[in-house]
Amino acid sequence: MTPPELHILESAEAAARAAADFVAAAAGTQVSRRGLFTIALSGGSTPRRLYELLALPPHVGSVDWERWHVFWSDERCVPPDHQDSNYRMAWDALLDLVPVPAANIHRVRGEGSPAEAAKQYQEEVLQLFAPSAPAFDLVLLGLGEDGHTASLFAETDGLREKRRLVMANWALHLQGYRITFTFRLINAANAVAFLATERSKAEVVRQVLQPAPNLPLLPAALVRPTLGTVHWFLTRDAAALLK
Ligand code: 6PG
Repeated sequence: MTPPELHILESAEAAARAAADFVAAAAGTQVSRRGLFTIALSGGSTPRRLYELLALPPHVGSVDWERWHVFWSDERCVPPDHQDSNYRMAWDALLDLVPVPAANIHRVRGEGSPAEAAKQYQEEVLQLFAPSAPAFDLVLLGLGEDGHTASLFAETDGLREKRRLVMANWALHLQGYRITFTFRLINAANAVAFLATERSKAEVVRQVLQPAPNLPLLPAALVRPTLGTVHWFLTRDAAALLK
């Protein structure tokens, strides 16, 4: 695996802007090459500004939105209009404002049975990439202060999953399921981009990027695409503890 490429910016706004430029450039390259762009959006709060910037000039008018297929790298088990829904956040910040065809917006049916939602989502991923094995052009990821990414939390079944591409992962600390891409699907991606901007993430960024040899790897450190590249869009604050 090629070493991660670090993009360290002065502010959260600059990091979001650099990430938006990166996403738009990746989309342009893939659309020129294959006529479509497959992306998995990350959830949480950090990527909201990134999505908002994609829905503004210069990207709003230059990106070939009709060629995008949008998925989510994880989703909470809530309806699409719920305040915790990752779909709702991306819809409000970006997808309601750009002409990605409705059929190309692949929402996780988080309101139903978690197991059913994961099974159906895996089918939808397989169908899009058939007959090839699924390999997203770009998977966006966030980083929790505990080192989780997507909904792959330490000490959950998701960390040991080798077969499935999408699963309902029971998170004891949440007392609930999350629907999440597995490492198998994430690590098949052509590119992965993390976005972490808060000073409170500095310690976990260091532990993920510069792990102590005697400690177990955090979940986000298990993102090691077989052939793809990994990019980190960080602020100086979030990168403050990197040597
Ligand atoms: C989710 C995310 C999760 C998130 C991190 C960081 O559904 O919550 O996918 O992995 O990216 O927890 O969240 P913040 O950006 O809110 O710090």
